[in-house]
Amino acid sequence: GCLANGQATEPTYNYDETKVGTYTLPNPLINNKGKAVKTQAEWRSRRKELIQLFAENVYGQTPKQAVKLRFQTTSVDSSALNGLAIRKLVSIFFVDYPQLLPIEVLLYLPKGRKVIPVFLGLNFCGNHCVTTEADIPLSTRWMGNAIGEVSVNNKATEKARGMQERRWPIETILRRGYALATAYYGDIEPDYPQGWHSGIRSVLGESTAPASDTTKANSWGAIGAWAWGMSRILDYLQTEPSIDAKRVISIGHSRIGKAAVWAGAQDERFAAVIGNESGEGGAALARRWYGETVERINTSFPYWFCGRYKTYNKRVADLPVDQHELLALIAPRPLYIASADGDQWSDPKGEFLGAAYAEPVYKLYGKVGLGTTDGRPQAFPAVNQPIGQTVRYHDRSGKHDVTDYDWEQYLRFADELVR
Ligand code: GCU
Repeated sequence: GCLANGQATEPTYNYDETKVGTYTLPNPLINNKGKAVKTQAEWRSRRKELIQLFAENVYGQTPKQAVKLRFQTTSVDSSALNGLAIRKLVSIFFVDYPQLLPIEVLLYLPKGRKVIPVFLGLNFCGNHCVTTEADIPLSTRWMGNAIGEVSVNNKATEKARGMQERRWPIETILRRGYALATAYYGDIEPDYPQGWHSGIRSVLGESTAPASDTTKANSWGAIGAWAWGMSRILDYLQTEPSIDAKRVISIGHSRIGKAAVWAGAQDERFAAVIGNESGEGGAALARRWYGETVERINTSFPYWFCGRYKTYNKRVADLPVDQHELLALIAPRPLYIASADGDQWSDPKGEFLGAAYAEPVYKLYGKVGLGTTDGRPQAFPAVNQPIGQTVRYHDRSGKHDVTDYDWEQYLRFADELVR
């Protein structure tokens, strides 16, 4: 299209591989002073620099202060899911901010096991969506209407029960010996531009201004808030005697996948990270102009990121970081990045390359990451062919979703690398 002044505009997304162009990625192993990082000790300082760069330029600063939490178990069912599980509902209260509602955690533990590794992932539409168990309280929080008639006037209805059950194969997870902890991401911050008013960002952080305000260049955005919330749920899991707190796997899909990766990058207590179709602002390289782009995501979802991120809309090459460095921050811990071929918006190839170019940092720890010789693009695997070692990747056939196929790979990955 054309602007009124005759200036040509470009579409803010691209599905044409021939238009991707060339780009040069920043090297995770060159520090801010331009020095090569050669040892694990040097990487420890480089790691801090990179987290800071992501905070200043992409997600905003995560508040560092400790927040007083109170964990209140509101219900225990010692024979849930036909006797397979112990089910707990736990509220995480913010003691110093009584105006905030708690994060409501739903925890399923496989019965008869003592020290249990756990998948921790936020959900999109309330704990009542992940299971049909009728006694899970319906979330009373703000809920996007886009979800359909299952929410009316931004409140969940009974129709939403079990709506995303298919994405959470709880019984399979439990039978394989893992626990599942989940909470509604909107408990941390409702996902709309003004949502921060009732979320954690209303009380915590450098600024309470919305991240769309570019004058508050560093203030954290919603993704930062969701990531922070995951760490608070991990705080709780550390107090749960039957949970193996050294084996907590951060998992997330799409926007929640972006948060799951940012959480795992910052918080090394996460033993492993899984980003399912996390796309732009997640595993996909920002410099690869394909699918959703920096400009596009900053236009559709300005409040997800910090103000300064918007300044890169038309000059992505100036970003001091790219997403392979976010993934490198997970090293040497196991990492799984997954795409779907029907989800070109997330840029499967860009996600693959993000994972591939994290390789040098895994190597520094004597690990093979994806093992595709530092990311030769020609190593992009065929659909439904998982590849990699400490870093794994697959491009599933089908649409933007979380399927049994994805979980099958994640469970095998956890069995082999986390247990
Ligand atoms: C939008 C957005 C993506 C995001 C996705 C989702 O499509 O552009 O960046 O990952 O929503 O969360 O499903």
